[in-house]
Amino acid sequence: MRSRSLRVLLEVFVPDDPELFVGLKENLDMDTLSAVAELDRRFGIPGLASVGVGNGAMPRVQITSSLCEAEMYLHGAQVTSWKPAGNNNAEVLFLSSKSRWTDGQAIRGGIPICFPWFRAKANDSQAPAHGFARTKAWRLESILEEDDALVVSMMTESDEHSRRWWPGEFQLVHRVTFGSQLKLELVCTNTGTTTLRFEEALHTYNRVSDIQHVSVLGLDAVRFLDNTDSNKEKAQRGDVVFTSQTDNAYLNTSDTVELFDPNMRRRIRLAKANSLTTVVWNPWREKASEMRDLGNDEWARFLCVEASNILDDAVNLAPGQEHRITAILTVERL
Ligand code: BG6
Repeated sequence: MRSRSLRVLLEVFVPDDPELFVGLKENLDMDTLSAVAELDRRFGIPGLASVGVGNGAMPRVQITSSLCEAEMYLHGAQVTSWKPAGNNNAEVLFLSSKSRWTDGQAIRGGIPICFPWFRAKANDSQAPAHGFARTKAWRLESILEEDDALVVSMMTESDEHSRRWWPGEFQLVHRVTFGSQLKLELVCTNTGTTTLRFEEALHTYNRVSDIQHVSVLGLDAVRFLDNTDSNKEKAQRGDVVFTSQTDNAYLNTSDTVELFDPNMRRRIRLAKANSLTTVVWNPWREKASEMRDLGNDEWARFLCVEASNILDDAVNLAPGQEHRITAILTVERL
């Protein structure tokens, strides 16, 4: 039997639709609810931002403003939903129906943060793919109003767990501005005494109508490394269109790229700063069938376009210095 106070907290912090709360029963306990309630008391802004219990009983921030609706989990400091006002408040991000919602696992969809390595870690097959930042809970630092937008900051830093995989001493802050644009700023500070070298990516899963009917503009003639072909260097010809598994790292890219989706009658623009590589990824049917956290046929419903600094463009950061990668998403209705 649940205690009375647990019942009260449940009523306040768990919204009505139980299907949205995968794993809730197994994971929900009084400590979690009290912790979430405390976060909400400290950081919530009535009518605009609240902290509640999400999938897997994980804490998440929910935004409801005149400019957008959005969600961001403390797990991985991961944005999982952004619906700018207008165009029927259409969702911009893809989230897998089979995502895992557990500590130590990545959420499949939204915008995972890859840090401090990208893909597999060199010479370490045991290390988690794309680093450890996306599989752990970050700390909520603040929720602030800035004009009509809401700015959520979360942080994590080096600890025993990160040192197990990587010796770097660091602090990471993810500052996300939820408005009519979605602005992501990932700031890494070197808190150690030696130079840090790391890769990073804001691994955006854009929701698309059908991967076979979208294209990416703005990369014509840009050189890229094709990860489906032993990372051979190639040159893009025209717009990027999709007919098979695609895993390209476009080099020396600073210009805005556009994801053109005529069926959804929209363009999603990605502008970025302090990012030298742009990764474009879709696993296609066969590779997706090996991914247990992706629903049937969902591979056709997303395209990742990722502001990043990977491979030879990894960041070198001197002690005491900070590096900020920025990605700004905007949606234009066609
Ligand atoms: C992409 C990488 O960004 O992420 C791919 O370029 C990788 O190589 C993909 O397969 C998915 O990675 P994960 O670890 O989230 O399955």
